[in-house]
Amino acid sequence: MNNPYILWTERLSVRFGDFWALRNVDFAVREGELRVVIGPNGAGKTTLMDLITGRIKPTSGKIFFDGHNITGKSPHVIASKYHVGRKFQGPNLFENMTVAENLSLAAPGLHTVGAVFLHKTPKAVLEQVSEVLKKIGLLEKRGRLACELSHGERQWLEIGMLMIQNPRMMILDEPTAGMTEEETYQTGKMIQDLQEGRTILVVEHDMKFVRQVAKSVTVFHMGRILAEGPISQIENNRDVVRVYLKSERTEEKKDA
Ligand SMILES: Nc1ncnc2c1ncn2[C@@H]1O[C@H](COP(=O)(O)OP(=O)(O)O)[C@@H](O)[C@H]1O
Ligand SMILES: [Mg+2]
Repeated sequence: MNNPYILWTERLSVRFGDFWALRNVDFAVREGELRVVIGPNGAGKTTLMDLITGRIKPTSGKIFFDGHNITGKSPHVIASKYHVGRKFQGPNLFENMTVAENLSLAAPGLHTVGAVFLHKTPKAVLEQVSEVLKKIGLLEKRGRLACELSHGERQWLEIGMLMIQNPRMMILDEPTAGMTEEETYQTGKMIQDLQEGRTILVVEHDMKFVRQVAKSVTVFHMGRILAEGPISQIENNRDVVRVYLKSERTEEKKDA
């Protein structure tokens, strides 16, 4: 049988003390899919991303990527051998380097800080940098220092730094946190542009953003998958509305 999934988990569970953050999760993503993961705070979304990227080890269950059992492998192996890339919350930029220099350093290959400073970045890398700059809308700001960027622009630069590594699967955990409405919309467009057949996993709670980008959505609740399907179906799922969307809608009203 042909397996269409690039990533899947089998009865994946993790326990912190006597609390189960994830319990018997069978989660599967098709190659080339843009999957959005939603759910209330504490549902286990970040824990799932931590497990996939090797940051934490499961208590039981398995994780497969591209047909390989990656359960318990180190973050380094999962990133470098399996090309699973993740954008972390928090600053990962070289503040006193330019936007373009940050991208050059993130590009695969031997680009040391020294080489970038001495303008010895290979031409092929510079071309890649320009491509990515266009996609993340920072072409005009390529010469700016990272510390001069707005919050939204910094997030885009980090997405670009992930992009330039050409990962097979890209994981973004709440990429629009702290962004304005316009920046959130731009981020949605960017993620769709960047997809190009790549598998992307996005954890998000901005429902407007979810509607903008999502085809399929997985809803987590209390460490389990509560529902999964097209966004139109999810928004009308009674369980999802009860445990999650009702409170999100109240939040949206409060924000408005
Ligand atoms: N390292 C940890 N030690 C103890 N509890 C944790 C740890 N990481 C996460 N948790 C708990 O697991 C639950 C799920 O957390 P998390 O995956 O971050 O949720 P989400 O991202 O869906 O908001 C939360 O109740 C959280 O407090
Ligand atoms: Mg989280």
